[in-house]
Amino acid sequence: MYKVAAIGGDGIGPEIIAEGKRVLDAAGDRFNFSLDWTDFDIGAERYLATSQLLTEDDLKELGKFGAIYFGAIGDDRVKPGILEKGILLALRFHFDQYVNLRPIKLLDGVATPLANKIPKDIDFVVVRENTEDFYVGIGSRFRKSQKIELSVLRELYSVKFGLDIESDAEEIAYQIGVISREGARRVIAYAFDLAQRRRKKLTSVDKANVLSDIYGMWREVFTDVAQSYPAVSTEFNFVDAVTMWFVKNPEWFDVVVTPNMFGDIITDLGAMIQGGLGLAPGGNINPKGTSMFEPIHGSAPKYKGMGVANPIATIWAGSLLLEHVGEREAAAAVLRAIERSIRDGVLTRDMGGHYRTDQVGEYIAQSVRKG
Ligand code: IPM
Ligand code: MG
Repeated sequence: MYKVAAIGGDGIGPEIIAEGKRVLDAAGDRFNFSLDWTDFDIGAERYLATSQLLTEDDLKELGKFGAIYFGAIGDDRVKPGILEKGILLALRFHFDQYVNLRPIKLLDGVATPLANKIPKDIDFVVVRENTEDFYVGIGSRFRKSQKIELSVLRELYSVKFGLDIESDAEEIAYQIGVISREGARRVIAYAFDLAQRRRKKLTSVDKANVLSDIYGMWREVFTDVAQSYPAVSTEFNFVDAVTMWFVKNPEWFDVVVTPNMFGDIITDLGAMIQGGLGLAPGGNINPKGTSMFEPIHGSAPKYKGMGVANPIATIWAGSLLLEHVGEREAAAAVLRAIERSIRDGVLTRDMGGHYRTDQVGEYIAQSVRKG
């Protein structure tokens, strides 16, 4: 038995998590394990009612689980950034989920916008660092009468524009990216391990030609870690170039490892080449702690409760969850069942089908049961 926490969250989140649970329960029946779900009421509704994002108590309770199944957060009534930072990023950081694992795989029967590419051409994994870089939240804005703590900024801007920050028109803002040697090492090592189990090719994506301190160190660490994996071939790509290669030659990639912000950006591109955000799952992994599995799309508030949301990304995230807890066969069976629903055209309308969210979930659950 596996104890799993579930956070439906906002918008379409609860509907898609319900379908995910249905499919994972079916996988349990078929492969002889059971899932013991505990639901957490976290999200916009509670925030609006109580001003609470994540409580000490939430974190303490969630910390008792090895896995969290997460729907989506985001609500039109809350200013952008509050829920994202206060819930999603807070969970990733609190549980030190330093690997953001995002498979980019074109499933059988799915249309990709890339001409002449077929499933065997689009099958790689992005390992996004998930706790550092520009996401550390160190930054500030300075206006009239606010003291500039970073004297280097004051000097730079007084030379450049003659700014003395005496009026609000002269505001400046900054945000800092941070990488630690250990933070880079652990995620790069994870990516090498993964590449070793796959096609043995690892691409590091950075911008070391311009941001040479932060990503220069990233490259140094990558080169150090590579020594322990002689069987894995490696290459460096700059992030601007990699967006070009994802589109032109996705078949070149096996595992891609990248700092947090570039990982955020290139995985939306990855989602599109695998058929859209409705098909893109992610895992936030702490190999020794509490990990969290989620679709990478958001909460789509305007579709809330309409039964039109595509549950596939969430069900696929559930497959990643099963793999994470060690149920490899069940994880593969869930993915096969997703492929069957695609092949059989049992799809929501974003994929050209006419089925409801729960009908797609039920169909996939039945296919898992049949094996
Ligand atoms: C993602 C999202 C998040 C991120 C947002 C919602 C904070 O874009 O999971 O990719 O930037 O990581
Ligand atoms: Mg993103």
